[in-house]
Amino acid sequence: MNHKQIKVTVTRQLPEPVETRMKELFDVNLSNSSTPLTREQLLKNMKDCDVLVPTIGDKIDSNLIKESGKRLKLIANYGVGFDHIDVLNASKKGITVTNTPNVLTEDTADMAMALILIVPRRIKEGVKKLVDDTWDGWAPNALLGHRIYGKRLGILGMGRIGQAIARRAKAFGIQIHYHNRNRLPIKLEENLEASYWESLDQMLSRIDFLSINAPHTPSTFHLINARRLKLMKNSAYIINTARGEIIDENALTRMLRSKELAGAALDVFERGNEINPRLKELDNVFLLPHMSSATLESRIEMGEKVIINIQTFSDGHTPPDIIFNS
Ligand code: DGY
Repeated sequence: MNHKQIKVTVTRQLPEPVETRMKELFDVNLSNSSTPLTREQLLKNMKDCDVLVPTIGDKIDSNLIKESGKRLKLIANYGVGFDHIDVLNASKKGITVTNTPNVLTEDTADMAMALILIVPRRIKEGVKKLVDDTWDGWAPNALLGHRIYGKRLGILGMGRIGQAIARRAKAFGIQIHYHNRNRLPIKLEENLEASYWESLDQMLSRIDFLSINAPHTPSTFHLINARRLKLMKNSAYIINTARGEIIDENALTRMLRSKELAGAALDVFERGNEINPRLKELDNVFLLPHMSSATLESRIEMGEKVIINIQTFSDGHTPPDIIFNS
């Protein structure tokens, strides 16, 4: 099929090189806004294109899929997580869904590693002293944090990103523990010097840091709930660069406030950008606006993946990053 005949709608502004390439290749309808489309705009676009390129924040639920008409054949998601798309109903309707795995792995792992360091070493409080001009100079007891070296990191979800974090953490002298649906091949476990825990509960009670790296699915929603948070040591820290819905944010906030947990560094939140205001007040918490994969390189490579998925699909082949085939 001549790619120029394919009508592609992109829901948000993408990096300039990606948009330029899309314009060369497809009949593309680009967005000049960096905020998500309304439901009405999304539906209008879904009725009028062959390929939709959404991003996280564009909630494509079963009703939108049902109402989307007959033309839409591919949802080429710009992003790796696809919990905002009802892939099951898309597949029932004959719509293929793809995503952009691999290209965000190393950037996300870099940020997770930064977050592992930032709260135990009280970096936010140190920066605040300088900004507020309240630093009196070095003192033996000033801003004492906790040592990272030799501590135990529990990785919940040992996929590509979990493994990339394990590689980094190992180089910092951290002991690697993990819980995953499936155990890694022994060779890989040995390379990472990682200990597998079949029981998440048992792992939680023994670790010093918990890094969440699982996808958000019905079975991971609130996987880290109040009961499981209580299993963790009072001295433990939580790092989340995956999806906010995996942690019960209110329970976490309560436990951080009452010092039943030592701290948290979060890049994602249960209710998108509506963050529990009490979390923002805490010194032992460091929050980022979902930016773990935000490098120019990853965003361009995500665009390249979207383009390849559209091209292969239009040529009648299985796209490389297929999630669900129609
Ligand atoms: C994704 O692609 O799912 C990431 O969360 C975006 O940062």
